[in-house]
This record gives sequence, C-alpha cells and structure tokens, in this order.
Amino acid sequence: MTAKTSTSNYKPGMDIKYVQEKYGLKDVIKLASNENPSGPSKKAIKEALKIIKTTNRYPEGSCKILKSKLKKFLGKNFINEKNIIIGNGSSEILELTARAYLGKGFESLFSKHSFIVYKIISNSMQAKIVESNVVKDKADDYMNIDLLDMKNKITKKTRVIFIANPSNPIGKIIDYKNLENFIKSTPKRIIIVLDEAYFEYAAYRGYKSTLELLKKYKNLIITRSFSKIYALAGHRIGYGIASSEIISRLNAKRQPFNVNSIAQTMAASSLNDKLFVKTSLASNENSRLTLISEFKKLKIFYIDTHTNFITIYLGAKTKKIFEKLLSLGVILRPLDNYGLKNFLRVTIGTKSECQKFVKMLKITMSQVS
Ligand SMILES: Cc1ncc(COP(=O)(O)O)c(C=O)c1O
Repeated sequence: MTAKTSTSNYKPGMDIKYVQEKYGLKDVIKLASNENPSGPSKKAIKEALKIIKTTNRYPEGSCKILKSKLKKFLGKNFINEKNIIIGNGSSEILELTARAYLGKGFESLFSKHSFIVYKIISNSMQAKIVESNVVKDKADDYMNIDLLDMKNKITKKTRVIFIANPSNPIGKIIDYKNLENFIKSTPKRIIIVLDEAYFEYAAYRGYKSTLELLKKYKNLIITRSFSKIYALAGHRIGYGIASSEIISRLNAKRQPFNVNSIAQTMAASSLNDKLFVKTSLASNENSRLTLISEFKKLKIFYIDTHTNFITIYLGAKTKKIFEKLLSLGVILRPLDNYGLKNFLRVTIGTKSECQKFVKMLKITMSQVS
C-alpha cells in the first residue's frame, strides 16, 4: 500500500490569534497541539534570560552539556554521550533517520493513523510507504498498533519501522512484552524507531522504561521530545538514543548548528526541574480523569489515553461540532488527514481550560444536529 503525502498534509492546530479575529472573541483556548499548558519551567526561563545577550554567538554544536545531563538523567551505564543525538525537535531525529536509512527501493513501515511526519519524511526519501492495520476487535486495545499485522507486512525491502509508543493521535501504549517480542523477531538489518514523544505521560501511569531494550537490540532508536511534558515546543528540541554506530550515521546527516543555544539551555534546566514535571503530570492526570468522566456523562466515545490528549468519536457531526466549538473559542484538532474524519483530538489542558471546553461542548452538543 502506498500513499503520497507532502508537507501540506501536516495540518497544525489553528492559531489562537486567527480564531480571535475571525470570531471576534477575546478568550480562545487551544487544545489542539498537545502542548503542556503550564510551561515552560520557571527555572528554565531564568536560565534562558541569563544567556539571551550571548546569542550573537553560534550555539555549541554538539550539545555537550545537555548530553552529559541526559546521560545522568537516563541513569544507565550503557548509555553514554556517544549514544545520544540532540535534534531540532524529535521530528528532526526522525527525519535524520529517514535520510540516513531510507531511499528509493526501500520500504518504510508504520501503522495506519500514525504521526503524519513518518509519511512526509519517507516520501521525501522516495521510499515506499507500507501501513499496517490497527486493532479493531478488542475493546481494551481498540485502535492500538497491530504488531502481528505489522510483522506480516515486513518484506525484504523493509528498512525502517516507525512505532509511536504512546501513539498519536490514538494515545495507546503497546504491551511491553509484545513490543520486545516484536523487536526480537524483526530482522536486525531493519532500523526500528520507538518514538516516545509522550513517554513521560505513560511512565506516570506505570509504563516501564524501554531503555533496557537498547542494550540488547542494536537496531533500535528511541526518540524523545522536550516539546511535551517539558513544555518547550516553541524552542524545537528533542533527542535520540541508539548504538554509537547509528548515532554516528545520523550525525553525518545533521547540520552543525541544528539546535539553538536557548533551547539547549532550557532543555538542560527543565530536566532538573523535577517539581515542574511532577506538577504537570499530576495536573494532566486530574484533567484526564475529569474529561473522561464528562465524556461518559455525555455518552461520547473516547479512546483512553496514556498521553496528554484524548481522541473522541463524534460521528457524522464531527465537522459541525469542530466548527461550533471554534466559534465558541475552543480549538480542537480535526483528524481527517489521519484518516479519522469522525474523530477529534482534545489536548488535555489546565483545569480551567477543561472546564471551559466541557461547558462549550455541552452547549455545542445541544445545538448541533
Ligand atoms: C508521536 C509524535 N512524535 C514526534 C512528535 C514531534 O515532536 P517534536 O516537537 O519533538 O518534534 C510529535 C509531536 O506532536 C508526536 O506526536
């Protein structure tokens, strides 16, 4: 199965200012791009201000300080600086992987309804896209990546497999044992990318760290982001962890100054701000429980999530509901370009944002027919 996609297929969440102007509204909330609503960390802001006057200089190109902080933070003796690469968002690590390993004649394998960037970067390398199915027949695993189908879709030409865990826009995690069995049974010539942009949210709900897998499987790349729990989406910074051979190959494709100095400084400082992370996770969990309880009351089908967003099913009225909510100052994310036109994705906001969303959703549901 092939699919052609260009960057225009990535439709970002709508801009707050645009919605304010279009509908003449003062208060608009954006629950569309899975950002942490409470950030950035105040400590990180303080550190950024300290260096703002030195930004006439190029950044330190190898991100030495951040890598050494990450090494300590990850706390595994088999992960050293040479196993880490810092990117302009974790998206850049995904792209470097595509550039290093994909090309004409190769196949890039990922699940249906995956993060759109996988398509964009695979297409840009002229690789053939192969999409596996999602689980449809098990209630507790509904819409999760179907690893069995993915395994069946591996061919001699498969070069890279992208697995978001948790996935976006579905928000599901893969059972750890099943994930390891899948990796174990995959030919070692295939690069497996475990995209863990939302890992911290899953860990908060008890999901085991996958770092140990790196020790056993040298064809694995784990990518993580500072855009989500660390609340630095606007600075574009993320990282990848893999064998030193893979990291060297990715570095060979990387621009020398790919990560700016403010982003490096704020990321390093955010890693140390444990209280900020803990508070953000607790707030996300409270809001998740509130939203789920409201969806139940409203009889709205939702896919339970291990992330900071919830995907809900609204059927044929989805577009009308999205537009009505916009006019009431609530921006959600339509999922047509993910092949999910009857669903909307809601980023879990602050308590007051969630209250406003629920209030407007109730109004909307009573008015949209
Ligand atoms: C599954 C997934 N992977 C990666 C990313 C990219 O994150 P970053 O901002 O680090 O590039 C996102 C962003 O939304 C995502 O949802």
